[in-house]
Amino acid sequence: VLQQNCEIQFCLALEDPIGNPLSEPGIDRVRRQDKGFSSPAWSINYIENVIKPNTFWDPNRYFNIWVVDISGGYLGYAQFPNNSTLGCLNNNNGGASTDGVVLLYQSVGRPPANPYPPPYNLGRTATHEVGHWLGLRHIWGDSNCGNDCCGDTPTALTANFGCPYPQTTCSSVDMVQNYMDYTDDNCMNLFTVNQKNRMRTVMQVSPRRVDLLSSTVCGSGPPPTSDFYDWSHKHL
Ligand code: ARG
Ligand code: ZN
Repeated sequence: VLQQNCEIQFCLALEDPIGNPLSEPGIDRVRRQDKGFSSPAWSINYIENVIKPNTFWDPNRYFNIWVVDISGGYLGYAQFPNNSTLGCLNNNNGGASTDGVVLLYQSVGRPPANPYPPPYNLGRTATHEVGHWLGLRHIWGDSNCGNDCCGDTPTALTANFGCPYPQTTCSSVDMVQNYMDYTDDNCMNLFTVNQKNRMRTVMQVSPRRVDLLSSTVCGSGPPPTSDFYDWSHKHL
């Protein structure tokens, strides 16, 4: 079976970096005007140079996700892991103060919490960007019939949008169901074996990722249980 349980779970932080309880688990609300930040449109440059360095929490203990009003039509973006030993990745992809994922607020969560219209309202932007943060490349390898260093994701000409199934490019049917394509949220439902293995390698070897395994900021209780949504009934 190609569709994998990746066996990676996250938990909501219960305490802030100095050990105080969070009033909302996992959430730190920041009003940029209260912090004295400049207030231009939310370009990637501004997010990288102003917002992240002034708001990040120690990424050896926290996985930072910035939920903002990104400008320029992006749904989200991520920082790749460093020194993963994996192919298709550089060793240095950025420092601690910018590590994590950025998401457009309209694409976070799913109804009823997410009140925004389809097709990016089912939480798959976070799934996709966390894939990058754990070392996955796009399934088209970011070039025409390119390489994503996963032999079990068929080669694809370029990104797919909507849900074009079946779509044959580069002599194989594109895996439009893969979270690392650009298809609609309700079209995506899988990471493959090779993708799972890359992500699990990153969790075991990459700086900051591996440190999260021993973070105590979620408290001492049992680990979180993911509320996995069953997409198996879905037609493509
Ligand atoms: N970085 C990609 C973008 O901004 C994310 C695509 C996520 N796709 C999705 N169906 N949510 O377009
Ligand atoms: Zn991407």
